[in-house]
Amino acid sequence: MGPGPSDVHPRVAAAAAEGMVGYLDDSYVDVMNDVQEGLRYLFRTENEVTFAVSGTGSAAMETALANLLEPGETVLVPSNGYFGQRMGEVAARAGGEVVHLDAPWGEPLEPAAVEAAFAEHQPTVFGFVHGETSTGVRQPGIDDLARIAHEHDAYIVADTVASLGGVEFQTDEWGLDVVYSGSQKCLSAPPGASPITFSERAVEKALAREEPVRSWYLDLEGVWGYWDDDPSYHHTGPVSTTYALRESLRMVGEEGIESQWARHERVAGALVAGIEAMGLEVAVSKQHWLPTLNPVSVPEGVDPGTVIDRLMSDHDIEIVGGLGALAGEIFRVGCMGYSARPANISHFVTAFGNTLADEGADVDVGAGAAATADALGSRF
Ligand SMILES: Cc1ncc(COP(=O)(O)O)c(C=O)c1O
Repeated sequence: MGPGPSDVHPRVAAAAAEGMVGYLDDSYVDVMNDVQEGLRYLFRTENEVTFAVSGTGSAAMETALANLLEPGETVLVPSNGYFGQRMGEVAARAGGEVVHLDAPWGEPLEPAAVEAAFAEHQPTVFGFVHGETSTGVRQPGIDDLARIAHEHDAYIVADTVASLGGVEFQTDEWGLDVVYSGSQKCLSAPPGASPITFSERAVEKALAREEPVRSWYLDLEGVWGYWDDDPSYHHTGPVSTTYALRESLRMVGEEGIESQWARHERVAGALVAGIEAMGLEVAVSKQHWLPTLNPVSVPEGVDPGTVIDRLMSDHDIEIVGGLGALAGEIFRVGCMGYSARPANISHFVTAFGNTLADEGADVDVGAGAAATADALGSRF
């Protein structure tokens, strides 16, 4: 129940344990093709250049920015969370002139502020985080942000590491240029094969660069040669992780993407109902709530580190504390992928409430458990 990795479904774990093959074995190329097809469904895109970066979500972030940005180009990134700030660091290493879009932690970006930043700085690339794991904020109005970027002839990059597959995301309908994610959160696969998709215009920009991408490993031209038809060796694919990712994408297809979004909302909604009924506060407005990552304010007089340690040692449950500006202020409770199950939530709400009560917080554990059961329809 942390911010990921989430639990791995037994089917996905079994797929990861299948026998090893060569990185260009016909059977492995079939797996890569299945992954691309599954990712297009997941991203809601027709983009041809859709694949899994060999590495975790940060490698996908780096792939997006390193290929799209030429040294000296201005890039606009948000400062309202830990991963938005990481985008800035990655963009700077790629040679970009980084401009920060200031917004408080715990609040989304406002289109008017984005518009003003474009007018002032004229960035060529604008990156934002759809689900900010450090705050639990879900960025609304993405089609508006994309419209602003395109009116200024800029490219828009979306980080969906903590949100893709858990809440609605529409790459093509919303007009996005590069979108990336991770395998270990709402897809519940092991970390190490990170989904990414490039629009045609983003591919054109990346291929028309004057200066080669500074990272050989993440250079789109080379990597795509491995994923394209008639693949050739570029690097050794992460075979076992890719098997696992294919299985988890099959499961997304079986459940249906809309049903998967609805499950996350229903199950995380029951979590929130329990938290609030017990007398605790969810530290994000309902309007920007991200079901996959739920920030809970630390009650008065409680040491969050002790609660986190006791949940692990006494109940085998992982949650984490706040990062950066929110360190010591919040607990972060994940509800992602295979971990987003009613049984997990019921177990968590009771264990969390009892632990807090033991540590001196004023909570009504019974009311919390009852509200969660009601929301899940499991109280008779
Ligand atoms: C929103 C967001 N972006 C990027 C990352 C980086 O991904 P990774 O840790 O898989 O490299 C994370 C990881 O938690 C994340 O939550």
